[in-house]
Amino acid sequence: MKALVYHGPGKKAWEEVPDPQIQLPTDVIVRVDTTTICGTDLHILKGDVPAVTEGRILGHEGVGTVTEIGPAVSTIEVGDRVLISCICSCGSCSYCHQGLYAHCLADEGASGIGWILGHLIDGTQAEMVRIPFADNSLYRLPEHVPDEAALLLSDIFPTGFEMGVQYGQVKPGVTVAVVGAGPVGLAVIATAGLYGAAQIVAIDLDENRLDLAKQVGATHCINSGTADWKQQVIALTDGYGVDVAVEAVGVPATFTMCTDLVRPGGHVANVGVHGTSVQLDLQNLWIQNITISMGLVNTTTLPMLLKLVAQGKLPATELVTHRFELDDITSAYETFGNAAETHALKVMMSR
Ligand SMILES: NC(=O)c1ccc[n+]([C@@H]2O[C@H](COP(=O)([O-])OP(=O)(O)OC[C@H]3O[C@@H](n4cnc5c(N)ncnc54)[C@H](O)[C@@H]3O)[C@@H](O)[C@H]2O)c1
Ligand SMILES: [Zn+2]
Ligand SMILES: [Zn+2]
Repeated sequence: MKALVYHGPGKKAWEEVPDPQIQLPTDVIVRVDTTTICGTDLHILKGDVPAVTEGRILGHEGVGTVTEIGPAVSTIEVGDRVLISCICSCGSCSYCHQGLYAHCLADEGASGIGWILGHLIDGTQAEMVRIPFADNSLYRLPEHVPDEAALLLSDIFPTGFEMGVQYGQVKPGVTVAVVGAGPVGLAVIATAGLYGAAQIVAIDLDENRLDLAKQVGATHCINSGTADWKQQVIALTDGYGVDVAVEAVGVPATFTMCTDLVRPGGHVANVGVHGTSVQLDLQNLWIQNITISMGLVNTTTLPMLLKLVAQGKLPATELVTHRFELDDITSAYETFGNAAETHALKVMMSR
């Protein structure tokens, strides 16, 4: 088969590799029908994720058709159209029982880490992929949910909802500020209303992305390139700050923006993946009764979010801006990785 193989920092190739095989009785082989690129894949290509070794097939999102099942797989059948979770989890270890799929203790990849696809084992940017613990890591798709809509549930929507909205403790009537309106921030914006947020404020430097934020549920859009961006946000509250500030970028400056915006008693939900230390002004923050949360997505809310997508209650295909053939994935990377193409939000590759 063909797959996108990582060959060290800055190097990748769509090349011929051996077909994946069933290795454990709980495995399934999926023919990949649609896949996409995550910002994390760009981090890997820059060499920021040293655990990814040369020869690894990238990708942790996908929709496909099951072609082969291991003897212990009980809920998935050959021919099923399935969504692949970015987290593989055994479903039976003590962390899985707590819903902490992100820290599944099974040995696949490395015990204690559920994000293994395109990281510690071969991923989904390929014609076929082996999925471990298929009963707990794959989700059967209703026929009428198109690949493009489903695909956002592999990672983006559960991440925004679980790490942003749930960890941020969004409640009816609150004001939520979301710093960063990339795919993940937009997923926070699109799901904050599920818990009754009254005001959802999108903050970004890019007007294209702020326009999209409005389309998927932001009540206010503020360009943080303006001198008075902070005053504009605070003016939307009673003057004390926002109830929930969600960091969806992954750089120190935007984390500080969140701690600056939050009111006493509020929550800062960090969703971004950080590669360096942030400044945490505990000397000022301690007295404000602020909660700070962070984490790797579990995807435990995936079935619920899938139900909403199937009912047309969540925006999904709005975030898909570019479509490519699967074997033209190199062009897709060029578009997605081009910083000037800020309108490129989710690029999708399909057979
Ligand atoms: N915690 C998890 O489990 C998890 C899962 C997936 C992704 N992530 C992380 O979430 C983060 C967001 O992902 P994404 O794909 O949406 O990223 P992205 O790079 O596409 O989007 C980031 C957005 O932030 C904006 N931005 C940059 N600097 C800004 C500033 N100073 N002020 C306001 N906006 C600014 C950019 O214009 C862009 O729109 C990344 O760090 C990603 O690695 C975390
Ligand atoms: Zn991802
Ligand atoms: Zn487990």
